[in-house]
This record gives sequence, structure tokens and C-alpha cells, in this order.
Amino acid sequence: MKTVTLHNKTFEVFISDTEIEEIVHAIANAINNSGIKDPLFISVLNGSFMFSSDIMKKITIPDTEISFIKLSSYSGTESTGEVNELIGLGKDIKNRNIIILEDIIDTGITLEKIISLLKKEDVADIKVATLLFKPDAYRKDMQIDFIGKSIPNDFVVGYGLDYDEIGRNLPHIYKLKN
Ligand code: IMP
Ligand code: MG
Repeated sequence: MKTVTLHNKTFEVFISDTEIEEIVHAIANAINNSGIKDPLFISVLNGSFMFSSDIMKKITIPDTEISFIKLSSYSGTESTGEVNELIGLGKDIKNRNIIILEDIIDTGITLEKIISLLKKEDVADIKVATLLFKPDAYRKDMQIDFIGKSIPNDFVVGYGLDYDEIGRNLPHIYKLKN
């Protein structure tokens, strides 16, 4: 399938399933060789579910754990700004070596929120692994330790990533066709 139509927009293959597999393999190797002990992977739902599943099968570090979170945002009735909290972190992560698993880092706003929420839990260390990274859109200065592939500032979909909630099931990563 070279192109796919989602919500009346046409997308074309940008990163094939075989290339994705190579990228995931490279990230897993880098993590396996990093010296991180007893890691607790934290997969950021929904977008990271496919990446998380594939990379976990390639992690060979002893006593590896994985947990899943979702970032909820809502407007408080009295506060002015947006309030965010982590849904699903139903365990004590004090003194743990965390590796955040993200599908894509764009502006970095989401990552910044996740890191600030995790830091409140007295974790030992936080590393970040992302399948895709948009350097031209990134507006933060947090270190991203493991980057699968840096891509231009195009909208992509597939392999967990959605376009208005659809397209997550696609095995390749597609980008909007011009
Ligand atoms: P950030 O907070 O700007 O870094 O954006 C992070 C979130 O925006 C990701 O977790 C995705 O859910 C979404 N996102 C950013 N770029 C794309 C894209 O190209 N396709 C699909 N979702 C995206
Ligand atoms: Mg996401």
C-alpha cells in the first residue's frame, strides 16, 4: 500500500515497516549497551503502544519492567492554565531508573510535562527514548538520549501515530502527500 486515505487526506509511505524495524533495533541496541540497570520503561500512550511492544522484545537488560501512562489535560474551573496529570502510574517509582518511551517528540511540550511530573516522584534517573524527533519543531532543551530518526517538520501517521485518532494500525509510517 503506497498511499492511504484518512479523513479525505492522502498520505504516502515515508518510513517502511522494514526500516522501522531497523530503527527500533538500533535504539534497543543503544539502550542495551548503555549500562542502565533495572530499568523501568514508561510508555506514553496512546501513540507509543506499537513502538513499545516492538522495542521491549529486543531489550536484554536483566530485571526490565514496563509501565504505561497517559497524560490527561483539563482546564481547572478556578485555575487559569491547563492542569496535567499522569493516568496509570499506579506504582511507587521512587529511586527507579526510568526510560520514557515516546513515539514522536515535536515541540517537546508533552515531554517537559511528563518529566516534571515524574521528577516529583523522587526517581533516580530519567532517560528518554523516542522513535521519531522533529528537530526543527523542538523548542525545549531537555536531553533526548535515544533518537530513532530525526525527520522534517511534516505530519506523519501510522505505527501508533494517529491523524484525528485513525491510522494507528498502519504498519508503515506515512506522511501527508503534497
Ligand atoms: P509535542 O508536545 O509538541 O512534542 O507533541 C507530542 C505529541 O504530539 C506526540 O506525542 C503526538 O501525539 C503528537 N504529534 C506530534 N507530531 C505528530 C505527527 O506528525 N503525527 C501525529 N502526531 C503527532
Ligand atoms: Mg502521542
